[in-house]
Amino acid sequence: MQTDLTGKTALVTGGTGGIGAAICKQLAESGAKVTTNYRNEEKAQAFKKEMQDAGLDVHIYQVDVTDTEGCRKMVEDIENNVGPIDIVVNNAGITKDTTLRKMTKEQWDQVMRINLDSLYNICQPIVEGMTSRGWGRIVNISSINGQKGQIGQTNYTTTKAGMHGFTMSLAQEVARKGVTVNSVSPGYIATDMVMAVPEEIREKIIAQIPVGRLGTPEEIAAIITFICSDHAGFITGADISVNGGQHMM
Ligand code: CAA
Repeated sequence: MQTDLTGKTALVTGGTGGIGAAICKQLAESGAKVTTNYRNEEKAQAFKKEMQDAGLDVHIYQVDVTDTEGCRKMVEDIENNVGPIDIVVNNAGITKDTTLRKMTKEQWDQVMRINLDSLYNICQPIVEGMTSRGWGRIVNISSINGQKGQIGQTNYTTTKAGMHGFTMSLAQEVARKGVTVNSVSPGYIATDMVMAVPEEIREKIIAQIPVGRLGTPEEIAAIITFICSDHAGFITGADISVNGGQHMM
């Protein structure tokens, strides 16, 4: 079975690092025209070079996913210059880990704005076009911790559980129009985000993963690429766990 996304245009938010970069790469390798946004110029330049070296053409936009008007303009620009958006991967997300008793309102708000408001800001201007063309794929990157909770993450887990609520509602709104909406919930993946967890705690977490290791960004990108293909047209409103067996539902 081959995943052919030739002719499709994809927007992956926060695609310049970690899981996002692996998603951009695999979608581009499958033939999609890939676009992404970034906030950090340095990371964006390194990403651009990596894609160029791999012979992949990825368009990048400096837009903050919390900026409703900026996202609307980016969507307009992509649709005018690259193509109508067929695939959206809501990947941009941050952590601000601390127990609730110490959490500032700013740490709460930043996580809400980036992880949740971004869903509205990106999907709202895109969904009408997808349904009118009769084909679309929306994938929201949630988390194992949105399914099971995690000490020090009341802000993050609220957003990740909330993302799946968004997934299920939008999936029902667009199911008859050829558009699927799904969540993917990665477990602990070897990215900067997980490496920021103090080593001693990280080692304890790895010890709880039945396969005995962290996941790789490529293992997450592979399932997303499949969900974005024609083969996955009957999967919608799902939350797909990719966590090495750490949390079995
Ligand atoms: N199990 C049991 N107890 C724990 C614990 C754990 N995993 N983690 C912390 N605690 C305890 C501490 O020992 C401490 O207990 P005492 O007060 O009795 O000493 C208490 O909980 C918390 O102490 P603090 O209030 O001082 O904690 P803090 O506000 O400084 O926060 C922390 C500490 C940030 C939560 C730190 O423990 C931590 O980083 N934990 C890991 C959080 C985590 O897994 N984040 C995932 C990041 S990656 C990601 O999010 C990607 C993804 O989707 C999977």
